[in-house]
Amino acid sequence: MCGIVGYVGSGSSLEVLVGGLKRLEYRGYDSAGIAVLSPEGDLGARKRAGKLGVLVEELAENPLPDGGTGIGHTRWATHGGPTDVNAHPHFGDGGRLALIHNGIIENFAELKAELVAAGESFESETDTEVAALLVGRAFHDTGDLTEAMRRTVERLDGAFTLLAVHRSAPGVVVGARRSSPLVIGLGEGENFLGSDVAAFVEHTRRAMEIGEDQIVTIRPDSVEVIDFSGAPAAAKEFEVAWDASAAEKGGWPSFMKKEIAEEPDAVANTLRGRTHDGAVALPELDGVAEALSGINRVLVLGCGTAAYAGMVGKYAIEAWARIPVDVELSHEFRYRDPVLDEHTLVVSVSQSGETMDTLMAVRYAREQGARTLSICNTQGATIPRESDAVLYTHAGPEVAVASTKAFVAQVTALYLLGLHLATLRGTLDADAVAAQLTELEAVPTKIQRVVEASSARIAELAHWMSDTQSVLFLGRHVGFPVALEGALKLKELAYIHAEGFAAGELKHGPIALIEPGQIVFVVVPSPRDPSSLHKKVVSNIQEIRARGARVIAIAELGDVAVVPFADEVIRIPLAAPFFEPLLSVVPLHVFGMELATAKGLDVDQPRNLAKSVTVE
Ligand code: G6P
Repeated sequence: MCGIVGYVGSGSSLEVLVGGLKRLEYRGYDSAGIAVLSPEGDLGARKRAGKLGVLVEELAENPLPDGGTGIGHTRWATHGGPTDVNAHPHFGDGGRLALIHNGIIENFAELKAELVAAGESFESETDTEVAALLVGRAFHDTGDLTEAMRRTVERLDGAFTLLAVHRSAPGVVVGARRSSPLVIGLGEGENFLGSDVAAFVEHTRRAMEIGEDQIVTIRPDSVEVIDFSGAPAAAKEFEVAWDASAAEKGGWPSFMKKEIAEEPDAVANTLRGRTHDGAVALPELDGVAEALSGINRVLVLGCGTAAYAGMVGKYAIEAWARIPVDVELSHEFRYRDPVLDEHTLVVSVSQSGETMDTLMAVRYAREQGARTLSICNTQGATIPRESDAVLYTHAGPEVAVASTKAFVAQVTALYLLGLHLATLRGTLDADAVAAQLTELEAVPTKIQRVVEASSARIAELAHWMSDTQSVLFLGRHVGFPVALEGALKLKELAYIHAEGFAAGELKHGPIALIEPGQIVFVVVPSPRDPSSLHKKVVSNIQEIRARGARVIAIAELGDVAVVPFADEVIRIPLAAPFFEPLLSVVPLHVFGMELATAKGLDVDQPRNLAKSVTVE
């Protein structure tokens, strides 16, 4: 939610900032702005409502003098609508200071009243302007931007990342963070700040984490980190695992199309180096080995697609490791006084590692004594940093707002965890673990086949359905979260009313929705599965078909039983039951994307959404 970039150096700050904002636009895209210090020490700023392109046009019409110091912001509105005035930066110290913000300042109303009483006037409806005026006043008193920031953050409640520049502090950008993301990029004679490494990865892959409640001051040749009390703080350096080209469209019409095509790699890369001689090798969990052997319960937390990945993981972890697994939406968990202790392993699932609801839930779980493990796709993010251990997914940067390749990588990581726990607990023998890993290792090639074989037909179906008002998704067992994920993609991308149901629940209510022509996607379990689920789901198809539904079945190759009852069958390769979701979800991702495309919508940046939701 809101993307932030800062730069000091001898390069073009305009180029760095606009380039960084392009890569951060997934975080918010209702307005954008930048402020730069010119070589002569003037502070110039431009800010415009609308996507980044509007700001770029504005800069072409009204250029700014380009110096080596600046800050840039792409906004997802919280306080105050997406207007030019509410766009960041905001100003203090009589226009001599510019400040940008990600997060929410919860006590802004009191501070605003205090500032008004002190004679300040406000231009915008944002909470951010309070911080700009406070830093400006403190700079006026101290003449030191770092100290001015420190005095300000002491007074703020809530979550925030702030960056500021002042015309009397040339070659300096000061940043501060509490519960919102900020990372440092280390260059040669230049340094960067960004909401995530994507902001600067085209310039440097050397990065540094900034801890909670810390302030960073970057100059071209130095980086200083202190805590909110002013004491020096240590920051951990790391190398970004991917290069800038991984976050480029690279000839694809959309990031989403590219990212769906990368689903096989997302699984393969998450597995890479983590299996050895038919066993799971997760050295990153060594530090919590003792804790893992003492757990009696697993609780998976996440939001959106990440929560659905958690639901898929539940079935496999319970079956393999014979340990109870609950899955809960992070925002529901946090506020219901849950029962936890040191024998509970709380597994958070988050692509960004910054989702505020999940971060708060993880903090709460830690306070209650639970062990915390983060499954995350973003190096240096807050949630992994604050967890006892982290299992990174290696899906590569995911730019499209709606999550696709991260889902399959998250399921893969959860499966590795399930097999690891099964090994520790002795619930699967070595041969059984090896057999599951063989299945998992075969998944990338199978996903590739699904993408190749089904994409063209799904595009035709989507085109044909572009006027559809409502689509239902049914699944059972591991197919149920896949149905939920299919429905979420349609809501997010195509703005169509869509619901996912457990197929067994159909007769308890949802069947009343079926009327002639209603489109229903059904995720069909394998007929080879010894359970009777396949038969039951085929019966469900017959029930809805009898009431006029148009059925699109996602079914295994060779499943002929489904053919007479489905209007369309999308085939997936044969796989053991737990691995089917990694295949059946792919056509649903493609369908969401194609239906949005058929409706002429922006599949990478759907309305009202942001990829990294850093407000509660
Ligand atoms: C937002 C995105 C979703 C995503 C969810 C969780 O709502 O629009 O696509 O699934 O956040 O994000 P996370 O980064 O925690 O996986």
